[in-house]
Amino acid sequence: MNIQRNAGAADLERVAGAFRAGEHVYAREGSPLYANLARAGADDPAIVELAGHGMAGAPPVHLFTSVHFMLLGGLDDPLARFFPTLTENPAPPEDAYPGFRRFCLRHYDELKHLLQTRSVQMTYPDRCRNLVPPLSLVADLAGEPLNLIEIGCSAGVLLVFDRYAYELRGDGERIGPADAPFVLQGRVVGGPALRIPQIGRRTGIDLNLIDPRSGEDRRWMLATCFPELLGQQARLAQAMDIVAETDIRWLEGDALLHLPQALAETPDPVCVYHSACLMYWPAGARAALRQQFIEASRARTIYRVGIEPSERLDSVMRGAADGEARDAALPSGEVSVTRYRDGRVDMQVVAESSVTSGTVTWPT
Ligand SMILES: C[S@@+](CC[C@H](N)C(=O)[O-])C[C@H]1O[C@@H](n2cnc3c(N)ncnc32)[C@H](O)[C@@H]1O
Repeated sequence: MNIQRNAGAADLERVAGAFRAGEHVYAREGSPLYANLARAGADDPAIVELAGHGMAGAPPVHLFTSVHFMLLGGLDDPLARFFPTLTENPAPPEDAYPGFRRFCLRHYDELKHLLQTRSVQMTYPDRCRNLVPPLSLVADLAGEPLNLIEIGCSAGVLLVFDRYAYELRGDGERIGPADAPFVLQGRVVGGPALRIPQIGRRTGIDLNLIDPRSGEDRRWMLATCFPELLGQQARLAQAMDIVAETDIRWLEGDALLHLPQALAETPDPVCVYHSACLMYWPAGARAALRQQFIEASRARTIYRVGIEPSERLDSVMRGAADGEARDAALPSGEVSVTRYRDGRVDMQVVAESSVTSGTVTWPT
C-alpha cells in the first residue's frame, strides 16, 4: 500500500475543502497560526495547487509542516516571527498569511520536493497515556516480559512508552521509572490497575521509517508538531533521544507485507498495537489485517490493541470539522483490546478515549 499523493487539477477542490475544514480542526487542536493560514489558503488557488502535491488526506498540514521544517533549519525569513517555536514573542497569527504566501511562492520548488518526498507522520509521546491502560490489561492477561510490535510506528516514540512517567488517575499517584524525562498527565476512568509492564522485544513497522539519530529526520518530526505546542515538541525531542538508544527492530514497508513474518519471529507473549494508523487504511486492507491475525493465532495467542477513531465517533469528528465547538475531553477515538486464539476472535474490550486530553473511559 503506497501513500496516495494528490493527483493534480481534479483534486484541487478537495484540497481547498481540506483547508476550509482545517481552519476549525487546527483551532481546536491549539494552533491559531495554522487555523489562520488554512482559512486564507482555502481561497488562494496558488497555495491550494502547491499543497495538492502532498499526501492525499493531509494537504494543509503537509504544506505547513514543510514550511515549518525549512524555517526550523535556520532559513532567515521574516515568516519565522509568527512561529512560537522560533521566536519568544510571536507576531499575531491573523497577520501571517501574506508572509506565508510569499514564502511558499519563493520556495515553491523546495516545498514541492518536500511534499513529494516526505510524509506527515505526526506522533507524540503524549499518546502513550492511551496506551498504558490497555497494555496494563494485556500484561495481566498475557504475562511478561511482553513483546511488542507496533504497526505504523513513525518515530517509534510509542514503542518506548515504558520509559516515561504517568499520572493518570487524578490522585497524584505516579507510575514509571524515576529517571523518566517527563511525566504525562491524563485521566483514566475505570479499567485495570495501571502499571508499566516489563517489555521484552520491540518491533516497529512503518511505510517510512524515521531515524531518530538523523538530524534531518528529527527536524522533520519536530516540524510536524503544531508550532504553539512547545511542550509537546520538547517531549517529542526527548522521546526521540530515548528511541535512539533503545534496541528496536525496524521494518520498513507496508505492515500487511511484514506482519506475518514479524509475528513468526516474535516469541510469546506478544501484543501488536496501532494508534492513529488504521484510520488511513481502506476497509479491504483492514479486513486483510484481521485475517492475518486470525491465521497467525491458529497455534498461539495474540493480543491486539487499537487506538483509532471509530465510525461510531465519526459524527463527533465531522461536527468539529464543520465548525461546531467541541470539548477536548470529549471522546475522539476508541481503545480496543482483542485476543486472537485458535483462529477465533475471543474477546474485545472497547474504551472511549480523547487523544487531546489523555482521557480514557472504560465501560462499567
Ligand atoms: C499518524 S502516524 C501515527 C504514529 C503513531 N502510531 C502515533 O500514534 O503517534 C501514522 C503512521 O502510520 C504509518 N502507516 C500508514 N499506513 C501504513 C501501512 N500500511 N504500513 C505501515 N505503516 C503505515 C505512517 O507512515 C505513519 O508513520
